[in-house]
Amino acid sequence: MVERIEVEVAEPYPVFVGARMDVAGAVSGVLEPAACAILTDSEVGPLYAGSVRQALEASGWRVACVVEVPAGESSKSLEVYAEAVRQLARSGLTRDGTLFALGGGVVGDLGGFVAGTYMRSINFVGLPTSLLAMVDSSIGGKVGVDLPEGKNLVGGFVQPRLVLADLGWLGTLPDRQISCGLAEVVKMGLLSGGKFFESLDLLQTARKGDTNALQTLVSHSLRFKAGVVAEDELERGRRAILNYGHTIGHGLEAAADYSLLHGEAVAAGMVAEATLSSRRFGRDLVDLHRALLSDAGLPTQAPKIPAEAVLSAMGRDKKRRSKDSRDEHRFVLLEDVGEPVWGVQVSELETRGAIEAIVG
Ligand SMILES: NC(=O)c1ccc[n+]([C@@H]2O[C@H](COP(=O)([O-])OP(=O)(O)OC[C@H]3O[C@@H](n4cnc5c(N)ncnc54)[C@H](O)[C@@H]3O)[C@@H](O)[C@H]2O)c1
Ligand SMILES: [Zn+2]
Repeated sequence: MVERIEVEVAEPYPVFVGARMDVAGAVSGVLEPAACAILTDSEVGPLYAGSVRQALEASGWRVACVVEVPAGESSKSLEVYAEAVRQLARSGLTRDGTLFALGGGVVGDLGGFVAGTYMRSINFVGLPTSLLAMVDSSIGGKVGVDLPEGKNLVGGFVQPRLVLADLGWLGTLPDRQISCGLAEVVKMGLLSGGKFFESLDLLQTARKGDTNALQTLVSHSLRFKAGVVAEDELERGRRAILNYGHTIGHGLEAAADYSLLHGEAVAAGMVAEATLSSRRFGRDLVDLHRALLSDAGLPTQAPKIPAEAVLSAMGRDKKRRSKDSRDEHRFVLLEDVGEPVWGVQVSELETRGAIEAIVG
Protein backbone atom coordinates (compact mmCIF):
# COMPACT_ATOMS: atom_id res chain seq x y z
CA MET A 1 0.00 0.00 0.00
CA VAL A 2 1.28 3.46 -0.87
CA GLU A 3 0.55 6.14 1.73
CA ARG A 4 0.52 9.84 0.95
CA ILE A 5 1.46 12.29 3.70
CA GLU A 6 1.20 16.07 3.21
CA VAL A 7 3.85 18.39 4.59
CA GLU A 8 1.88 21.61 5.12
CA VAL A 9 4.65 24.19 4.93
CA ALA A 10 4.36 27.49 3.00
CA GLU A 11 4.65 25.51 -0.25
CA PRO A 12 3.11 22.17 0.69
CA TYR A 13 4.40 18.92 -0.76
CA PRO A 14 3.49 15.23 -0.57
CA VAL A 15 5.57 12.33 0.71
CA PHE A 16 4.79 8.88 -0.69
CA VAL A 17 5.74 5.79 1.31
CA GLY A 18 5.32 2.20 0.19
CA ALA A 19 7.12 -0.86 -1.07
CA ARG A 20 8.11 -1.28 -4.71
CA MET A 21 6.44 1.89 -5.84
CA ASP A 22 5.83 3.25 -9.29
CA VAL A 23 8.42 6.03 -8.89
CA ALA A 24 7.79 7.72 -12.22
CA GLY A 25 4.00 7.52 -11.81
CA ALA A 26 4.08 9.22 -8.42
CA VAL A 27 6.48 11.92 -9.67
CA SER A 28 4.45 12.62 -12.80
CA GLY A 29 1.37 13.28 -10.67
CA VAL A 30 3.19 16.29 -9.20
CA LEU A 31 5.65 17.47 -11.88
CA GLU A 32 5.31 17.54 -15.68
CA PRO A 33 8.04 15.37 -17.23
CA ALA A 34 10.91 17.59 -18.48
CA ALA A 35 14.69 17.62 -18.24
CA CYS A 36 16.26 16.36 -15.04
CA ALA A 37 19.44 15.17 -13.35
CA ILE A 38 19.95 12.41 -10.79
CA LEU A 39 22.35 12.93 -7.89
CA THR A 40 23.42 9.77 -6.09
CA ASP A 41 26.43 8.24 -4.34
CA SER A 42 28.88 5.48 -5.21
CA GLU A 43 27.01 2.85 -3.15
CA VAL A 44 23.41 3.67 -4.00
CA GLY A 45 24.05 4.61 -7.64
CA PRO A 46 25.13 1.14 -8.84
CA LEU A 47 22.13 -0.40 -7.03
CA TYR A 48 19.26 1.88 -8.00
CA ALA A 49 20.18 4.75 -10.34
CA GLY A 50 19.72 2.59 -13.45
CA SER A 51 16.17 1.52 -12.64
CA VAL A 52 15.15 5.02 -11.51
CA ARG A 53 16.59 6.48 -14.71
CA GLN A 54 14.78 3.90 -16.85
CA ALA A 55 11.46 4.51 -15.09
CA LEU A 56 11.77 8.28 -15.52
CA GLU A 57 12.74 8.02 -19.17
CA ALA A 58 9.89 5.61 -19.87
CA SER A 59 7.44 8.22 -18.64
CA GLY A 60 8.85 11.10 -20.68
CA TRP A 61 11.66 12.58 -18.58
CA ARG A 62 14.98 13.44 -20.25
CA VAL A 63 17.88 12.59 -17.92
CA ALA A 64 20.60 15.15 -18.72
CA CYS A 65 23.14 13.55 -16.37
CA VAL A 66 23.67 11.26 -13.41
CA VAL A 67 26.03 12.84 -10.87
CA GLU A 68 27.64 10.22 -8.63
CA VAL A 69 29.54 11.43 -5.57
CA PRO A 70 31.66 9.24 -3.25
CA ALA A 71 29.52 7.59 -0.51
CA GLY A 72 29.94 9.10 2.95
CA GLU A 73 29.85 12.35 4.91
CA SER A 74 32.95 13.70 3.12
CA SER A 75 30.76 14.40 0.09
CA LYS A 76 28.92 17.10 2.06
CA SER A 77 31.69 19.53 1.18
CA LEU A 78 32.06 22.77 -0.79
CA GLU A 79 34.38 20.95 -3.21
CA VAL A 80 31.89 18.19 -4.04
CA TYR A 81 29.10 20.80 -4.18
CA ALA A 82 31.11 22.83 -6.72
CA GLU A 83 31.80 19.76 -8.84
CA ALA A 84 28.10 18.78 -8.78
CA VAL A 85 26.76 22.18 -9.90
CA ARG A 86 29.43 22.32 -12.60
CA GLN A 87 28.33 18.91 -13.90
CA LEU A 88 24.75 20.21 -14.11
CA ALA A 89 25.97 23.26 -16.01
CA ARG A 90 28.01 21.13 -18.42
CA SER A 91 25.03 18.85 -19.02
CA GLY A 92 23.00 21.88 -20.12
CA LEU A 93 20.29 21.46 -17.46
CA THR A 94 18.01 24.51 -17.66
CA ARG A 95 16.12 26.48 -14.98
CA ASP A 96 12.93 24.47 -15.49
CA GLY A 97 14.87 21.27 -14.73
CA THR A 98 14.50 18.96 -11.75
CA LEU A 99 17.12 17.40 -9.51
CA PHE A 100 16.36 13.95 -8.08
CA ALA A 101 18.43 13.16 -4.97
CA LEU A 102 18.68 9.36 -4.76
CA GLY A 103 20.51 8.30 -1.58
CA GLY A 104 20.83 8.76 2.16
CA GLY A 105 20.94 11.96 4.17
CA VAL A 106 24.26 12.99 2.64
CA VAL A 107 22.90 12.98 -0.91
CA GLY A 108 19.68 14.62 0.32
CA ASP A 109 21.44 17.48 2.16
CA LEU A 110 23.91 18.04 -0.68
CA GLY A 111 21.21 17.66 -3.34
CA GLY A 112 18.86 20.16 -1.71
CA PHE A 113 21.68 22.68 -1.57
CA VAL A 114 22.58 22.03 -5.21
CA ALA A 115 18.92 22.31 -6.32
CA GLY A 116 18.31 25.42 -4.20
CA THR A 117 21.27 27.30 -5.63
CA TYR A 118 21.84 26.05 -9.19
CA MET A 119 20.45 28.83 -11.43
CA ARG A 120 18.98 30.34 -8.23
CA SER A 121 16.90 27.16 -7.80
CA ILE A 122 15.43 24.31 -9.76
CA ASN A 123 12.84 21.72 -8.69
CA PHE A 124 14.03 19.29 -6.06
CA VAL A 125 12.71 15.76 -5.52
CA GLY A 126 13.86 13.57 -2.62
CA LEU A 127 14.29 9.84 -3.18
CA PRO A 128 15.62 8.80 0.27
CA THR A 129 17.19 5.33 0.35
CA SER A 130 18.45 5.11 3.96
CA LEU A 131 16.04 4.72 6.89
CA LEU A 132 17.43 7.89 8.49
CA ALA A 133 16.73 9.85 5.33
CA MET A 134 13.22 8.36 5.02
CA VAL A 135 12.13 9.20 8.55
CA ASP A 136 14.07 12.37 9.19
CA SER A 137 16.37 14.23 6.82
CA SER A 138 14.27 14.10 3.62
CA ILE A 139 11.56 16.32 5.03
CA GLY A 140 11.82 19.65 6.75
CA GLY A 141 13.88 21.50 4.18
CA LYS A 142 17.22 21.76 5.96
CA VAL A 143 19.96 21.35 3.36
CA GLY A 144 23.64 22.14 3.14
CA VAL A 145 27.23 21.01 3.44
CA ASP A 146 29.93 20.79 6.09
CA LEU A 147 33.06 22.92 6.46
CA PRO A 148 36.39 21.74 7.87
CA GLU A 149 35.41 24.02 10.79
CA GLY A 150 32.24 22.05 11.56
CA LYS A 151 29.22 20.07 10.38
CA ASN A 152 26.31 21.70 8.51
CA LEU A 153 27.81 25.19 8.71
CA VAL A 154 26.69 26.25 5.21
CA GLY A 155 23.19 25.74 3.88
CA GLY A 156 19.64 26.91 3.78
CA PHE A 157 16.00 25.87 3.79
CA VAL A 158 14.98 24.28 0.49
CA GLN A 159 11.71 22.37 0.36
CA PRO A 160 11.34 19.51 -2.13
CA ARG A 161 8.40 19.35 -4.56
CA LEU A 162 7.83 15.79 -3.41
CA VAL A 163 9.54 12.95 -1.56
CA LEU A 164 9.20 9.31 -2.43
CA ALA A 165 10.40 6.61 -0.04
CA ASP A 166 10.38 3.09 -1.47
CA LEU A 167 10.81 0.69 1.45
CA GLY A 168 12.17 -1.90 -0.99
CA TRP A 169 15.39 0.16 -1.13
CA LEU A 170 16.04 -0.66 2.54
CA GLY A 171 16.68 -4.30 1.59
CA THR A 172 20.33 -3.47 0.84
CA LEU A 173 20.93 -1.05 3.72
CA PRO A 174 23.44 -2.47 6.27
CA ASP A 175 21.97 -3.46 9.68
CA ARG A 176 24.00 -0.83 11.52
CA GLN A 177 22.44 1.88 9.33
CA ILE A 178 18.94 0.48 9.90
CA SER A 179 19.52 0.78 13.66
CA CYS A 180 20.71 4.36 13.22
CA GLY A 181 17.49 5.27 11.43
CA LEU A 182 15.55 3.61 14.24
CA ALA A 183 17.28 5.93 16.75
CA GLU A 184 15.37 8.86 15.23
CA VAL A 185 12.17 6.74 15.19
CA VAL A 186 12.54 6.01 18.93
CA LYS A 187 13.23 9.72 19.54
CA MET A 188 10.08 10.82 17.72
CA GLY A 189 7.95 8.07 19.30
CA LEU A 190 9.00 9.26 22.76
CA LEU A 191 8.30 12.89 21.84
CA SER A 192 4.93 12.04 20.29
CA GLY A 193 3.45 9.53 22.74
CA GLY A 194 0.05 8.02 21.82
CA LYS A 195 -0.33 5.48 19.00
CA PHE A 196 3.11 6.23 17.59
CA PHE A 197 4.72 5.44 20.94
CA GLU A 198 2.70 2.21 21.20
CA SER A 199 3.85 1.16 17.73
CA LEU A 200 7.44 1.10 19.00
CA ASP A 201 6.73 -2.52 19.97
CA LEU A 202 7.39 -3.15 16.26
CA LEU A 203 11.06 -2.11 16.55
CA GLN A 204 12.48 -5.63 16.62
CA THR A 205 10.33 -6.80 13.71
CA ALA A 206 11.19 -3.70 11.69
CA ARG A 207 14.86 -4.22 12.37
CA LYS A 208 14.65 -7.64 10.76
CA GLY A 209 13.35 -5.99 7.60
CA ASP A 210 9.59 -6.66 7.91
CA THR A 211 8.01 -4.30 5.39
CA ASN A 212 4.72 -3.80 7.24
CA ALA A 213 6.48 -2.94 10.49
CA LEU A 214 8.81 -0.57 8.63
CA GLN A 215 5.92 1.10 6.87
CA THR A 216 4.07 1.68 10.16
CA LEU A 217 7.13 3.21 11.84
CA VAL A 218 8.19 5.28 8.82
CA SER A 219 4.73 6.73 8.28
CA HIS A 220 4.25 7.55 11.98
CA SER A 221 7.65 9.28 11.97
CA LEU A 222 6.91 11.24 8.81
CA ARG A 223 3.49 12.36 10.07
CA PHE A 224 5.00 13.42 13.37
CA LYS A 225 7.91 15.32 11.84
CA ALA A 226 5.65 16.86 9.17
CA GLY A 227 3.35 18.17 11.92
CA VAL A 228 6.20 19.70 13.88
CA VAL A 229 7.79 21.25 10.78
CA ALA A 230 4.46 22.65 9.52
CA GLU A 231 3.96 24.41 12.86
CA ASP A 232 7.45 25.92 12.90
CA GLU A 233 9.06 25.76 9.46
CA LEU A 234 12.13 27.87 10.30
CA GLU A 235 12.78 26.50 13.80
CA ARG A 236 11.88 29.58 15.82
CA GLY A 237 10.31 27.54 18.65
CA ARG A 238 8.76 24.09 19.03
CA ARG A 239 10.70 22.48 16.16
CA ALA A 240 13.60 22.46 18.63
CA ILE A 241 12.04 19.37 20.29
CA LEU A 242 13.45 17.30 17.41
CA ASN A 243 16.86 17.88 19.01
CA TYR A 244 16.00 15.55 21.89
CA GLY A 245 19.10 13.43 22.61
CA HIS A 246 21.10 15.56 20.18
CA THR A 247 22.66 18.12 22.54
CA ILE A 248 24.75 15.47 24.27
CA GLY A 249 24.62 13.26 21.13
CA HIS A 250 26.39 15.88 19.00
CA GLY A 251 28.97 16.37 21.76
CA LEU A 252 29.65 12.61 21.84
CA GLU A 253 29.84 12.40 18.05
CA ALA A 254 32.45 15.16 17.88
CA ALA A 255 34.40 14.03 20.96
CA ALA A 256 34.58 10.46 19.57
CA ASP A 257 35.91 11.97 16.35
CA TYR A 258 32.93 10.62 14.41
CA SER A 259 33.82 6.98 15.13
CA LEU A 260 30.27 6.60 16.41
CA LEU A 261 27.53 6.84 13.81
CA HIS A 262 25.05 9.68 14.35
CA GLY A 263 22.21 7.39 15.48
CA GLU A 264 24.50 5.61 17.96
CA ALA A 265 25.60 8.91 19.50
CA VAL A 266 22.00 10.10 19.68
CA ALA A 267 20.96 6.84 21.36
CA ALA A 268 23.49 7.31 24.16
CA GLY A 269 22.63 11.04 24.21
CA MET A 270 18.95 10.21 24.79
CA VAL A 271 19.82 7.98 27.75
CA ALA A 272 21.83 10.84 29.28
CA GLU A 273 19.08 13.36 28.61
CA ALA A 274 16.49 10.96 30.05
CA THR A 275 18.58 10.96 33.22
CA LEU A 276 18.46 14.76 33.29
CA SER A 277 14.71 14.60 32.62
CA SER A 278 14.05 12.26 35.52
CA ARG A 279 16.11 14.44 37.88
CA ARG A 280 14.23 17.54 36.79
CA PHE A 281 10.69 16.18 36.53
CA GLY A 282 10.67 13.08 38.73
CA ARG A 283 9.42 10.61 36.10
CA ASP A 284 12.04 7.90 35.55
CA LEU A 285 12.12 6.98 31.87
CA VAL A 286 15.72 5.73 31.75
CA ASP A 287 14.91 1.99 31.74
CA LEU A 288 12.26 2.56 29.10
CA HIS A 289 14.85 4.31 26.93
CA ARG A 290 17.33 1.47 27.39
CA ALA A 291 14.73 -1.16 26.47
CA LEU A 292 13.58 0.64 23.32
CA LEU A 293 17.10 1.39 22.13
CA SER A 294 18.22 -2.18 22.64
CA ASP A 295 15.17 -3.39 20.65
CA ALA A 296 16.45 -1.11 17.90
CA GLY A 297 19.93 -2.65 18.11
CA LEU A 298 21.53 0.50 19.48
CA PRO A 299 24.10 1.04 22.23
CA THR A 300 22.93 2.80 25.40
CA GLN A 301 26.49 3.56 26.48
CA ALA A 302 29.18 5.48 24.63
CA PRO A 303 32.87 4.53 24.38
CA LYS A 304 35.20 5.70 27.11
CA ILE A 305 35.55 9.42 26.39
CA PRO A 306 36.31 11.98 29.10
CA ALA A 307 33.13 13.91 29.99
CA GLU A 308 35.23 17.08 29.70
CA ALA A 309 35.82 16.42 25.97
CA VAL A 310 32.08 15.94 25.40
CA LEU A 311 31.26 19.16 27.27
CA SER A 312 33.85 21.07 25.34
CA ALA A 313 32.47 19.79 22.00
CA MET A 314 28.96 20.78 23.18
CA GLY A 315 30.25 24.30 23.82
CA ARG A 316 31.16 24.58 20.14
CA ASP A 317 27.77 23.32 18.87
CA LYS A 318 26.12 25.54 16.29
CA LYS A 319 22.76 25.32 18.09
CA ARG A 320 24.19 27.29 21.00
CA ARG A 321 23.33 30.96 21.03
CA SER A 322 25.89 33.67 21.67
CA LYS A 323 24.04 34.76 24.81
CA ASP A 324 24.05 31.23 26.30
CA SER A 325 26.01 31.11 29.53
CA ARG A 326 29.19 29.05 29.50
CA ASP A 327 28.14 27.27 32.68
CA GLU A 328 24.72 26.16 31.50
CA HIS A 329 23.31 24.10 28.65
CA ARG A 330 19.83 24.25 27.15
CA PHE A 331 18.08 20.92 26.67
CA VAL A 332 14.93 19.35 25.34
CA LEU A 333 13.75 17.16 28.22
CA LEU A 334 10.79 14.84 28.70
CA GLU A 335 8.34 15.49 31.52
CA ASP A 336 6.83 12.20 30.44
CA VAL A 337 6.38 10.21 27.21
CA GLY A 338 4.70 12.60 24.74
CA GLU A 339 5.45 15.66 26.89
CA PRO A 340 8.63 17.34 25.73
CA VAL A 341 9.77 20.68 27.13
CA TRP A 342 12.41 22.69 25.30
CA GLY A 343 14.88 25.37 26.33
CA VAL A 344 15.42 23.83 29.80
CA GLN A 345 18.56 25.27 31.40
CA VAL A 346 20.78 22.71 33.11
CA SER A 347 23.99 23.48 35.00
CA GLU A 348 27.36 22.30 33.74
CA LEU A 349 27.76 20.19 36.88
CA GLU A 350 24.49 18.33 36.39
CA THR A 351 25.21 17.90 32.67
CA ARG A 352 28.63 16.42 33.46
CA GLY A 353 27.01 13.91 35.83
CA ALA A 354 24.59 12.72 33.12
CA ILE A 355 27.44 12.35 30.61
CA GLU A 356 29.61 10.44 33.10
CA ALA A 357 26.78 7.95 33.55
CA ILE A 358 26.93 6.92 29.88
CA VAL A 359 30.61 7.07 28.94
CA GLY A 360 32.69 3.95 29.49
N1 LIG B 1 18.49 17.74 6.72
C1 LIG B 1 18.12 17.24 7.87
O1 LIG B 1 17.14 17.64 8.46
C2 LIG B 1 18.95 16.14 8.45
C3 LIG B 1 18.47 15.41 9.54
C4 LIG B 1 19.24 14.36 10.02
C5 LIG B 1 20.44 14.04 9.41
N2 LIG B 1 20.88 14.78 8.35
C6 LIG B 1 22.15 14.47 7.67
O2 LIG B 1 22.03 13.20 7.09
C7 LIG B 1 23.33 12.63 6.95
C8 LIG B 1 23.28 11.20 7.42
O3 LIG B 1 22.37 10.50 6.60
P1 LIG B 1 22.52 8.91 6.42
O4 LIG B 1 22.63 8.28 7.73
O5 LIG B 1 21.48 8.49 5.47
O6 LIG B 1 23.99 8.81 5.78
P2 LIG B 1 24.50 8.49 4.29
O7 LIG B 1 23.79 9.27 3.29
O8 LIG B 1 25.97 8.61 4.37
O9 LIG B 1 24.09 6.96 4.13
C9 LIG B 1 24.71 5.99 4.95
C10 LIG B 1 25.42 4.93 4.10
O10 LIG B 1 24.42 4.05 3.58
C11 LIG B 1 24.55 3.95 2.17
N3 LIG B 1 23.20 3.71 1.66
C12 LIG B 1 22.15 4.58 1.65
N4 LIG B 1 21.06 3.95 1.20
C13 LIG B 1 21.40 2.68 0.92
C14 LIG B 1 20.69 1.55 0.45
N5 LIG B 1 19.38 1.59 0.19
N6 LIG B 1 21.38 0.40 0.25
C15 LIG B 1 22.72 0.32 0.56
N7 LIG B 1 23.43 1.35 1.03
C16 LIG B 1 22.77 2.52 1.21
C17 LIG B 1 25.19 5.22 1.73
O11 LIG B 1 25.85 5.06 0.50
C18 LIG B 1 26.15 5.49 2.89
O12 LIG B 1 27.33 4.74 2.71
C19 LIG B 1 24.27 13.48 7.79
O13 LIG B 1 25.06 14.26 6.94
C20 LIG B 1 23.32 14.35 8.60
O14 LIG B 1 23.88 15.62 8.89
C21 LIG B 1 20.15 15.81 7.87
ZN1 LIG C 1 19.55 13.14 14.29
